[in-house]
Amino acid sequence: MPAPITDQGAPRRSYELNDPMPSEVRAGARRFASVQALNELVGVLPFAAWLNRAPSLSRKQMLMAKIQDEVGHGHVAARVAQDLGAGWESILRDYVEGRAKVHNIFHYDFESWEEFGPGLLLMNSAAIVQFQSLGRGVYLPYARALRKIEREESFHYQHALDMTHEVLHSGDTAQRRRAQDAFEVWMRRVLAYFGPPDTDTLATNPMHVAGLKPHGNDELRQQWLGRIVPVCRGLGMHVDPDLVREASPGHWEFDMPDWTDVKRVIAGGGPASEQRLAWIRGVLERNAADRISRVVAA
Ligand SMILES: [Fe+2]
Repeated sequence: MPAPITDQGAPRRSYELNDPMPSEVRAGARRFASVQALNELVGVLPFAAWLNRAPSLSRKQMLMAKIQDEVGHGHVAARVAQDLGAGWESILRDYVEGRAKVHNIFHYDFESWEEFGPGLLLMNSAAIVQFQSLGRGVYLPYARALRKIEREESFHYQHALDMTHEVLHSGDTAQRRRAQDAFEVWMRRVLAYFGPPDTDTLATNPMHVAGLKPHGNDELRQQWLGRIVPVCRGLGMHVDPDLVREASPGHWEFDMPDWTDVKRVIAGGGPASEQRLAWIRGVLERNAADRISRVVAA
């Protein structure tokens, strides 16, 4: 992998696990990998809920493969975090005890099957843009993990393209309507997923300074819009200019998310927030009960 480039254009030092490295790099990489592991795991729950409602066997197989991949991504990221001192147990504890949060997009459920194509298309493409950026960070084990994850996300993206195409070209009027509505709902959520504007604060962001967050939220959001909006239009989606428009070549304007509301959702105020937390709480309780029974049996 080419050495990450600093803002000044000089190659920045990169680190393997056992290299001496600044404590901010070690702590920052642990945090990024832990947050990713948590999100990969919690992020499968909205999909798992639809396993028995997929409209065909092939779609069910596709969904199962996606869930398996996502849990695998969780393990890969958790392994990186574990090498830096944070294993699954502490990652999940941090979540149930409120020290770690999941992204806004994972606080919702899917309301219809037609929502999957557009929702996944927007989420996967955004994740790919994020991972490509984070993969240029200075902690190399995490960068390598992201490359593996990103390859599988690209596969999920292809599925999402196929599902969206199917509903828009073979669905009835009501199904096409649901897909279009879902596109608008998820476009707003994924715009928020990139985080609040950081144009003036990126230079002082500790993760950026440590070399772990090479690009700012605004830059990534713009990059994503430039890639995904033409794809959505090509599929036949209507892109409402009040929601997203290309004001000048390469510069996108969009309906700015209500950041107070996004914060409220991330803090646990989303429609599925409590259900997600309860599920992970249950996992921890079952693990603890299992450990106790093994001790008792021994
Ligand atoms: Fe993933």
